[in-house]
Amino acid sequence: MAEEAGIIMEKVSYKVGGRKILEAFDLQLQPGVNRTILGVSGAGKTTILKLLLGLIPPDAGNISIDGVPLEGSEAALRAARSHIAIVFQGGALFDSMTVGENVGYRLFEAGKLSEKEIETVVREKLGFVGLESALDLYPAELSGGMKKRVAIARALAADPTYIFFDEPTTGLDPMGVYNIQDLMLRLQREGKTTLMVTHDLATAFAVSQRFSFLHEARLVFEGTEEEMLATDDPAIREFLQPTEASLFAGRG
Ligand SMILES: Nc1ncnc2c1ncn2[C@@H]1O[C@H](COP(=O)(O)OP(=O)(O)OP(=O)(O)O)[C@@H](O)[C@H]1O
Ligand SMILES: [Mg+2]
Repeated sequence: MAEEAGIIMEKVSYKVGGRKILEAFDLQLQPGVNRTILGVSGAGKTTILKLLLGLIPPDAGNISIDGVPLEGSEAALRAARSHIAIVFQGGALFDSMTVGENVGYRLFEAGKLSEKEIETVVREKLGFVGLESALDLYPAELSGGMKKRVAIARALAADPTYIFFDEPTTGLDPMGVYNIQDLMLRLQREGKTTLMVTHDLATAFAVSQRFSFLHEARLVFEGTEEEMLATDDPAIREFLQPTEASLFAGRG
């Protein structure tokens, strides 16, 4: 599998304090094929992204990025990881920096481009998300939807091949949700490979071609929208069509 392109997780398990968060989880993210991992809150979705970024080590199994195993040399790993960007669940902008500084942050850190070159990239990425005019604002001055778009612009700054989205539409109004869906589709057209984890089914169907479903630490489904809608797996049926009882249980 040395030169295999894409991101592969094989039988990955992760435990916290003896509790199984993920059990023998498999994922194959082929370049250009956009994927959503669905599951209820607490299912382990963010954990999968943390594992893929090498932020936490798996207890068992293998993860590789474009053929480079995550447990390999630090240098190889850094190179592989430089093709990945993530839009965190809360946006995770630096409050003390302007929007422009947030978007250019990774490029400044890398130290390869001049200030002028970085500004050009920052303006282009902010233009892509429709927020060039917010360049000098601070995160506190932005709406939730604008923050998410800035977080996307920041993820794009280093020109990644893979972009991970953690709940990109949570907490947004319908227009904000539409804006994010539109951005994700435009990124796909530009050839980016996006991996989203979410419980927003409508957005998942709007932007992805393949779906994984996580239930109680395990992958219970992998396939297309049609296949998912046709499945009789009880956890998926419940997710697709929550019963009244579970709706009430989720309140309060
Ligand atoms: N460092 C940790 N210490 C203890 N428990 C953890 C830790 N990280 C994750 N968990 C637990 O693992 C489970 C999965 O967490 P994770 O954040 O991956 O869920 P999620 O699917 O992203 O949920 P949400 O949809 O609410 O974001 C949760 O029950 C969480 O409480
Ligand atoms: Mg999460």
